[in-house]
Amino acid sequence: MKVAPSMLSADFAKLAQEIQAIEAAGADYLHIDLMDGNFVPNISFGPMVYEAIRKDTDLFFDVHMMIQDPEQYIEACAQAGADSIGIHVEATHHPHRALQQIKGLGKEACITINPGTPVDAIVPLLDLVDMVLVMSVNPGFGGQAFIPYSLDKICQLDALRREYGYDFKIQVDGGVNEETGRQCYEAGADVLVAGSYIFNHENYATAIQSLKFGEAHD
Ligand code: DX5
Ligand code: ZN
Repeated sequence: MKVAPSMLSADFAKLAQEIQAIEAAGADYLHIDLMDGNFVPNISFGPMVYEAIRKDTDLFFDVHMMIQDPEQYIEACAQAGADSIGIHVEATHHPHRALQQIKGLGKEACITINPGTPVDAIVPLLDLVDMVLVMSVNPGFGGQAFIPYSLDKICQLDALRREYGYDFKIQVDGGVNEETGRQCYEAGADVLVAGSYIFNHENYATAIQSLKFGEAHD
């Protein structure tokens, strides 16, 4: 299991130290939430911030775009150092084109679905993506409760992956802790995003290790 701490729950006043701390604690990705105050009711940080922190860490930058019409900022995210760029299927009329744009920039492409969006909505995109992100809360804020139906979606995606031989990773974001994380692992998830669970923990390494299901623990 890969673990992706969500920067949204970090202490922004000491961002570089926080990122270096989670890197040293065994994080696999840095999950970066881009919010526009339109697609979601919150505003976070943009590509200028990613560029600033890029020099402080070698972590894989996993950018989760929660913005309407993401096409206009995909290139800026790529240039700022994103390794994976994820868009919401609900946020554009042309998700296929936006994913092609991401791949054309040499980045990993991720398609994301909100809790109210069925897996069916992204079936035509599955052969194009490196990762599918199942939102297990309504996006916009950290610290919300995990929505159990997300587990069914993970199972559906895992079944599709097996049936058609796709190799996308399944990522889950929202309300992940040791208990819900284990349920996601058992349903077929490969990457767990966790914000408040990790950053509110007194020991980041312990928190990250507790989510690495399927791997030997030290
Ligand atoms: C929510 C964000 C998440 C958020 C998760 O819109 O996409 O990445 O930071 O936070 P927790 O793990 O606290 O639910
Ligand atoms: Zn996120």
